Amino acid sequence: MQENNLSSSDLIYPIFLIEGKKKKQPIKSMPGIYRYSIDQLGMIINNVMEQKIPMVALFPSTPNNKKDKFGTEALNENNLVCKAIRFIKKRFRNNIGIMSDVALDPYTSHGHDGLVKKNYVINDKTIDVLIKQALIQAQMGCDVIAPSDMMDGRVGKIRKYLDKNRYQDVQILSYAVKFASNFYGPFREAVGSNKSLKSDKKNYQMDFANSNESLREVALDIKEGADMVMVKPGLPYLDVIQKVRENFKIPVLAYQVSGEYSLIKNGIKNKLINEEAIIESLMCFKRAGASAIVSYFALDIAKKIKF
Ligand code: PBG
Repeated sequence: MQENNLSSSDLIYPIFLIEGKKKKQPIKSMPGIYRYSIDQLGMIINNVMEQKIPMVALFPSTPNNKKDKFGTEALNENNLVCKAIRFIKKRFRNNIGIMSDVALDPYTSHGHDGLVKKNYVINDKTIDVLIKQALIQAQMGCDVIAPSDMMDGRVGKIRKYLDKNRYQDVQILSYAVKFASNFYGPFREAVGSNKSLKSDKKNYQMDFANSNESLREVALDIKEGADMVMVKPGLPYLDVIQKVRENFKIPVLAYQVSGEYSLIKNGIKNKLINEEAIIESLMCFKRAGASAIVSYFALDIAKKIKF
């Protein structure tokens, strides 16, 4: 009678990257999660593939001396994420999917996802940079380009630019519904944008009081050519996932974000809740209608799921 089930093929595993060699660096706010140097990726991707997880999402932690107010490093073909994409693609070909974010926050000194003028992120000028960032990542071998910046109109422009440059087979997963959330805290520590971030991201990310707006965001991104859409964060927004699922015939993905991860993980560590809570949380995404889930629990939980 069970209506839904969970399989490792539903999961996407995020990986944090760091420069250097032989590094596995713990992230204080995310127990059990590490930043890895590129030479460690072979081992991790092997594990991911063994568990039949179809895709990884890459997030670079950029040293401060490579950040500036324009996010210039985003367009460097030899930046950390580009090197990691090349490494994985060369070694694993198409046996694992690679997804990477398009947004400037790993590279800006102010920690915002776009260019800033008078404390406002400027939409159209930012898109001019994002399309180049997307193309470079596609050229490196990225399979799924994931704009997480929340500028308006960027999906259409990225699609056009990729097509013009013959990357029509690269897919776009739009973070269409991304809320200005308090649950991203640990992630910002992980990629090192927490200290630099001035003010908040409410000028471009969604108001957590809103629901109908998410339908307008998704409708626009579908029209512009998105192949999939993401709702983010996850558990507090199951209503939004369900709403998008019911209103559009497009795969909707959920992102169980860093704050959700750390809350559950610490709850288990402190014996406040038991480990089964992880599977419960992931199953809830399926019940709400998610087609896939990005989760820091992906690797651990895939080992536990019986097919
Ligand atoms: C930024 C980005 C964020 C996350 C993924 N991409 C944070 C933000 O918007 O500040 C958050 C993921 C998480 O918390 O796990 N482009």
